[in-house]
Amino acid sequence: QKKGRVFSGARPTGRQHLGNYLGAIRNYVALQEDYDCIYCIVDVHALTTLETTQELRQNTYEMALDWLAAGIDPEKSIIFVQSHVPQVMELHTYLSMVTPLGKLTDLPTFKEKARQQPHNVNYGLVGYPVLMTADIALYKANLVPVGLDQAPHIEFAREVVRSFNYRYNTQVLIEPEMKVTEVPKVLGIDGQQKMSKSLNNHIELAATPEETLQRVMQMVTDPQRVRRTDPGNPDVCNVFTMHKVFSKPEEIEMVNIECRRAGIGCVDCKRLLARNLNEHLAPFREKRAGLAQNPDTIWDILHQGAARARVIAEQTIREVREAIGL
Ligand code: ADP
Ligand code: NA
Repeated sequence: QKKGRVFSGARPTGRQHLGNYLGAIRNYVALQEDYDCIYCIVDVHALTTLETTQELRQNTYEMALDWLAAGIDPEKSIIFVQSHVPQVMELHTYLSMVTPLGKLTDLPTFKEKARQQPHNVNYGLVGYPVLMTADIALYKANLVPVGLDQAPHIEFAREVVRSFNYRYNTQVLIEPEMKVTEVPKVLGIDGQQKMSKSLNNHIELAATPEETLQRVMQMVTDPQRVRRTDPGNPDVCNVFTMHKVFSKPEEIEMVNIECRRAGIGCVDCKRLLARNLNEHLAPFREKRAGLAQNPDTIWDILHQGAARARVIAEQTIREVREAIGL
């Protein structure tokens, strides 16, 4: 007996990186044990910001491949592509009728996006959180795992669901709870900004061991440590932060001590990290390579996921139309 239904969506950003892995995917995999999970690649959401859709399909495929190789199990969970179940667009329209426009334009995420693309503040961009609410509500998810930065969106979703249920005097939609994942922000190899593909400061999960070593070698360490003989401070070093995730306790301890007294240099410290990272990712990479031999099976899994999602979606839409009086 599972504890409830989880829904989470992410835009198709293609090959995933360590930030995605530690911030989201790892958690998706763990949740499968206790919850009925629905994981969605939200390609329609992606349209709000994309200038070209040329790579959309490929990015969807690469992301699905990473999710599956990382352990999202289509036997346990539903994994699918948002646009394959178009009922979400219908629910989005109904929900838009109970959503005050001012609430949307007040959201910090909207303001930020509008600043980033002032030439393209489109209707869909404003409605992004309504579509997100429709995703969650359509599948009657009880729980949405999110980072703290997404908290306003879930609060928003709860309000919209409440408004809908109140407006039509019904209980068909479920107010989702959020499950805040206590994942720290993973920094990029610049050691400054959040790891992100768009900043090109990322380390791809699917990279080769050689590429991984190269990227790790580019990581910015304690800026005060200039010469090999200078003592370093692991507390301000992103390489050490990664050691704490991927290295053995005795190695972490060794780095912690030796860095502070210049016993180990940054190059050796990075080599050790790259080795451990590659070791950790080896099973993932092997599984990914196996799956990639047959791209059709990935699409089959996504289509089968959509078929299962559609059953839930159609049922919700029937109830919603009935509640509205359509
Ligand atoms: P989206 O905005 O559609 O969620 P992203 O690629 O920005 O797509 O993120 C996908 C998931 O990975 C999100 O749950 C996000 O919080 C997480 N994530 C991305 N980058 C990082 C990072 N640098 N540190 C921690 N988590 C991250
Ligand atoms: Na994000």
